[in-house]
Amino acid sequence: MTNTKFYITTPIYYPSNKLTLGNCYTTVLCDCIARFHRNLGHDVFFLTGTDEHGQKIAKIALENGVNEMDYLNEIIKDTKNLWKDLNISYDKFIRTTDSEHEKTVLKIFDILYQKGEIYKSTYQGKYCIPCESFWSEEQLIDGKCPDCGREVVEANEDCYFFKLSKYEDALRNLYTTNPNFLVPASRVNEMLNNFLNQGLKDLCVSRKTVKWGIPVSFDNEQTIYVWIDALSNYLSALGYLSEDDSKFKKYWPADVHVVGKEIVRFHAIIWPAILMALDLPLPKQIFGHGWLTFDNGKLSKSKKTEKKEVIDPRVLMSRYKSDSVRNFLIGEISFGQDGPYTQEGFLNSYNGILANKVGNLFSRLTGMVIKYNDGLIQYANVEQASDALLKDNVKLLKEQCIDYMLNLKPTLAYKSTLKIIDECNQYVDNNKPWELFKDSTNKERVNTVLYNALQTMLEAYTLLNAFLPESTATILNKFGIDKVEINKDSIFDFEINNITLEKNEALFVRLDIAKEMSELQEIANNN
Ligand code: MSP
Repeated sequence: MTNTKFYITTPIYYPSNKLTLGNCYTTVLCDCIARFHRNLGHDVFFLTGTDEHGQKIAKIALENGVNEMDYLNEIIKDTKNLWKDLNISYDKFIRTTDSEHEKTVLKIFDILYQKGEIYKSTYQGKYCIPCESFWSEEQLIDGKCPDCGREVVEANEDCYFFKLSKYEDALRNLYTTNPNFLVPASRVNEMLNNFLNQGLKDLCVSRKTVKWGIPVSFDNEQTIYVWIDALSNYLSALGYLSEDDSKFKKYWPADVHVVGKEIVRFHAIIWPAILMALDLPLPKQIFGHGWLTFDNGKLSKSKKTEKKEVIDPRVLMSRYKSDSVRNFLIGEISFGQDGPYTQEGFLNSYNGILANKVGNLFSRLTGMVIKYNDGLIQYANVEQASDALLKDNVKLLKEQCIDYMLNLKPTLAYKSTLKIIDECNQYVDNNKPWELFKDSTNKERVNTVLYNALQTMLEAYTLLNAFLPESTATILNKFGIDKVEINKDSIFDFEINNITLEKNEALFVRLDIAKEMSELQEIANNN
């Protein structure tokens, strides 16, 4: 392990419903990035969790006729199961109802109050319960929440305000002097045009009428605004202001908070302002990703899809394995931009990438080693010009993949690894071991070709491990690789000489798209 630390977070989810494929998006992408860093030997802390206070949760629990905690415990069980099935390798799952978290939030609120950053006044305006957001009359679009398009309610109450307006210049300065703070760059323009240029107003940070929250320590009529509570999780998870703050000392500031574009403003405006008020270092980066859209551009978060399609990740995983969901989310939606989900697109991606490339290469090479050398991998060194070319190309693609990943471009990094698979197939096609095999004097050359092809395949699968952990682990285990390490400095150094390969079942069976479509349609219609 190197000294490089890497602290990455997902937003914490509202357990207002069972999580959707859209929610899986952020988590899968973060998991992929976290795994990649671990495979590079970095010391990673990957945080996710649930955002459990606020009006929205209280309302749902009431509608379900249960108390908040009973409602939450049930749904969090489902969330954790979902993350397990998707192989999400979080280091901590935080719940904002954890007492350690609550204690830290109280301390943060107290410090801000003592420092004069928080004061009491009266709020008059609108509130969107699903987004837990305050809006002024002017900000509404057709009288509705500008973020999700739903009805807002009147909020008119005494509350505490955080002096957000005071940080307007500092935030502007932050975006200008540190263009890496908020990416992609388009998000900076959104923040400037939609918020900073309109003039920042102080932010209401407590609610009198909302009881399901953390009570303000010095005013028991008020509970702390759910977004202040929620954002603080990035610190409380590390033990900030607790007896053991070693993780805070080690991992803060966060290397990246990955969030969906609709909550960038909380992370790129409110969060840095609070941290400045606390005199804490700011996260190095906020990455505002796009949305997975359904039914021609609609977001699952706010609207139900009209077209009947299977969008439940649990169903998709049970039919096509967990890596199929990861493959689609990472490979088919360019990180940072919006991208559509369709059942057909999902199935085509499965066939095109998982069956034809990832699964096929392993079956193809295993088949050849069995046919041409009784399954035994034997190092041989009858080199030809095409071997050096292969190595050069693999080296370049590997470097490209690492570079993309370190620059938060997982979709491009994924494509680079798939190109290594293409290179490998091309090398085998060009060298035609099936022709060489016809002449026994070529035995050593056949073994050289197979050896180089297997080395290339393992380069691809070790890089792919962060993207497709389940399937690559199955293959890598057959080569005695239990712990994946990406060697940045050299290639083709897998110790595979004298390993015997056996015939395996195909990792990803090619799907009959028409048949799958009709079966999925039936499932969707019955739901
Ligand atoms: N609780 C807040 C976050 C607090 S973080 C301090 C919240 N929760 S959420 O459950 O509504 O959303 C969690 C994440 O899921 C967000 O990043 C959101 O963008 C993401 N997604 C939900 N549906 C989505 C898509 N359809 N596509 C991509 N991501 C979207 O906001």
